[in-house]
Amino acid sequence: MAILNDPVPSHGGSNGKRLVNDIPMSNYSSNSGLQHAAMLVAQPLLRQAVSDAFSSPSGQRDSGSLARDAELVRMVEYGSSHGNNSIIPFATLLRELPSGKIKEVEIVCNDRPQNNFSALASNISSLSLPSSPTPTVYPLLSPKSFYNPILPSSSTHLGFSFACLHHLEDVPPMSPAHQGAVGASRLSTLRAQSHKDLVKFLALRAKEFVQNGQLVLSFASQASTGEENYAGGVGACRAALVEMLREGVLGMQAVGAFEVPTYNRSSRDVEGALREVVKRTGEDGENGQIGDKGKGLALWELKEVREERVVHPAVEELERRRSAAKQMIEGKKGTEDGDSDSMWYASTIVDWVMAVVAGYFRKAVESANPSVTEREVDALAEDWTNRTKKHFLQSHRDEETACWFIYVRLRRL
Ligand SMILES: C[S@@+](CC[C@H](N)C(=O)[O-])C[C@H]1O[C@@H](n2cnc3c(N)ncnc32)[C@H](O)[C@@H]1O
Repeated sequence: MAILNDPVPSHGGSNGKRLVNDIPMSNYSSNSGLQHAAMLVAQPLLRQAVSDAFSSPSGQRDSGSLARDAELVRMVEYGSSHGNNSIIPFATLLRELPSGKIKEVEIVCNDRPQNNFSALASNISSLSLPSSPTPTVYPLLSPKSFYNPILPSSSTHLGFSFACLHHLEDVPPMSPAHQGAVGASRLSTLRAQSHKDLVKFLALRAKEFVQNGQLVLSFASQASTGEENYAGGVGACRAALVEMLREGVLGMQAVGAFEVPTYNRSSRDVEGALREVVKRTGEDGENGQIGDKGKGLALWELKEVREERVVHPAVEELERRRSAAKQMIEGKKGTEDGDSDSMWYASTIVDWVMAVVAGYFRKAVESANPSVTEREVDALAEDWTNRTKKHFLQSHRDEETACWFIYVRLRRL
């Protein structure tokens, strides 16, 4: 996530170390409305995935190789966070499974070890299970980065990952010239890392998936229209940081060390990564090597890829509140109610952004000043959040908040 797209004066340092992406989401369950909407968009892909996986080439259900072999079906989510957006997709997959043969289903929720697994366990336990005696469903938690092997070979039948894969495994340190800015050369470093990461993720999953298994992915992307993702939220975060720097509340070292290690891929970036692991027409079997230009590994068949613009549900709620208020006080303009709706909207959007980025802010403050106390970091994070809300209201009041995603569906060859 590029908070600092525009340069700010820079004198700080990131201590020359690679920035490991190990920060958990904070207050995620109540601040993930846009990801919820993006997950809903993927439901038809999940239904299609199950239908294809359990169909024979002639399209007849139940006679495909998965259904013949599978008494136990394993389905995995990569990057579950607190699990509040996991229930619907797992329920969709369970509902779509062919009845009869499958006796047991393992559902595996994966995330980095730093994730709040207590929240995840509590949310996932509210998954309502099929009422018939079979299949028996076993929820399992997997605390490991998905840029590593996470399950035994040829053991996974269905998988999905929503709103995660724009998170990079790690990033090289920024050179002093680039600290505090996301310039062209930094973007090309992040782009190269995002290529490596997506290819790595797909090669690792290929080893873990059974033949005909299906994988559905979505991740934040660069819009082909050129529209910037949630520009108002990003602009307000940036303005608040610059203000804190100018007032001396934050040092340049902290601002320079602040980076959210993500990259929003363009459709071309995705095509480039898929070229390394997806079978081309006329190829059969696994050949070539990753990074072997023009060849690649024929690990997956690409079933579907498309981009979608997803709007934060708070936009609709703001409209609903506005029209309700309008009906109540017809004719009065600039009322306090209108202001409180705008304040609610600014607060909802900024809290949503902060659920992802606040941890990286804290990490930057701590790395710039190792003797800072937790209380001081809390106060700075709260100050940044409040200033961001103020800037959102001042410069981006009621602006629509949307994010583009790329959706991909793959079949294991
Ligand atoms: C924005 S949340 C999305 C959560 C959920 N999938 C949803 O749609 O609401 C991104 C999640 O990806 C996880 N994540 C990022 N990098 C990861 C990695 N290398 N391995 C496992 N999880 C990762 C983060 O910890 C976070 O929980």
